[in-house]
Amino acid sequence: MNARVSPLRKPARGERLRVPGDKSISHRALLFAALAEGESRIAGLAGGDDVRSTARCLAQLGVPLLRGDGTPWQPKPGSRDAATAVARAERPKGSAPLPERDSEMGPDDAIVLGQGLSGLREPVLRLDCGNSGTTIRLLTGILAGAGVEATLVGDESLSRRPMERVARPLRQLGAAIETTEGKPPVIVRRGHPLRGQAIGSDVASAQVKSAVLLAGLFAEGETSFTEPAKSRDHTERMLRMMDAQVAQRGTTVTVRGKASLRGFALDVPGDLSSAAFLIAAALIAPEGTSLSLEHVGVNPTRAGFLDALAMFGARLKLELEEASGPEPVARLSVSAQKLRGAQLDGDLVLRAIDEVPILAVLGAAAQGETVIRGAQELRVKESDRIAQMAAGLRAMGARVEELPDGLRIEGGALRGGADIDSAMDHRIALAFSVAALAAREPTSISGAEWADVSFPGFYDLLRQLGADVELS
Ligand code: S3P
Repeated sequence: MNARVSPLRKPARGERLRVPGDKSISHRALLFAALAEGESRIAGLAGGDDVRSTARCLAQLGVPLLRGDGTPWQPKPGSRDAATAVARAERPKGSAPLPERDSEMGPDDAIVLGQGLSGLREPVLRLDCGNSGTTIRLLTGILAGAGVEATLVGDESLSRRPMERVARPLRQLGAAIETTEGKPPVIVRRGHPLRGQAIGSDVASAQVKSAVLLAGLFAEGETSFTEPAKSRDHTERMLRMMDAQVAQRGTTVTVRGKASLRGFALDVPGDLSSAAFLIAAALIAPEGTSLSLEHVGVNPTRAGFLDALAMFGARLKLELEEASGPEPVARLSVSAQKLRGAQLDGDLVLRAIDEVPILAVLGAAAQGETVIRGAQELRVKESDRIAQMAAGLRAMGARVEELPDGLRIEGGALRGGADIDSAMDHRIALAFSVAALAAREPTSISGAEWADVSFPGFYDLLRQLGADVELS
């Protein structure tokens, strides 16, 4: 799909908007609920393709997933795993009654019938993780612990991403895992019980940390994970909510094995990483633009974007809402403003790692120079995001220097009039769509359908805000 996005000429106004549920939390909610004793109810799941990949894999592992309206979640028609998963989606005796269709729960809500730590079934087919790094990395940890033999594969983009960072520590715990020259397909072998160990990592990664902690739940004794800086802590918060024993000391997290996890009810906060695109769009839109977003997750290990905005000189109103789960949520209000260039690095960049593409767009629209450093991990995301942002912003008329671990951007007005390819990367599609709104001439984004990985409905929302978007 091609999206031709024209500059926004008139101020936009949006009140009390909601963004899709947090992707990181949605993956975890489904995966952890599958390992719980009993039923979990999850509201407001991210509706994008990535979380669907997690749900599809779980169905193949024999985990009954029901939609909020009580019907089984339907994997791809025709697959043998699909047939079994649907057949098994019968509810155990004594379960709480399902909500009335379309009343208490919406289309993004799910009920997961947990199988406990020893209830996963070996899949008949390979597990297709699609475009999703979180799915393949966290599932590898779970399967290694559960002793379930499986092959995990992904699409062309995922098949280029490093898996040894997960396989290596899991082998230290006793797992037998094969990667394909360090990348997917990944094979997890059965019959290798795990023993708790102290694992050290030279990369701060929540996916690696989560894979190790999840495997640690199945291991004998305690498993700890130490990383160079603290990555997002959704896993730790959620496991505590499920009564697992999780301790944190500095950048070391320890989990006790042979745990029993309690089922839960969770309302997934809106995704700050998706909200970031709308906030950025409002900041660089015509004067008079204002936007407020409700129920956005503002976990401090994830909210570096908000601190980065302050460094651009932007004012944003944050009102904490009453949290119903382990994650803080807030209402965020923002209006169009003049921005000045910013120097972003270190811990802030780690806490805003998925927001670097849109921060680069803000840098291009700000007055003065913006330098982003310490973002080398972006080279191994869904695409090489440093290279994609540098090339795309240059095509739109910005002066950009590509650094090994970031970007140096000369701010000013963007010309636009470019053809940008999303490179199978949702955040590249989204970032350049926002950049196009603030440019002088229309910009075309090919592969715009990748936006659906994390932000289904994004282009409809832009249109509602008054943007001229042609999809073809
Ligand atoms: C994520 C962790 C981060 C982030 C990704 C989601 C997670 O990746 O970039 O989008 O849900 O744990 P790394 O663990 O590779 O840093």
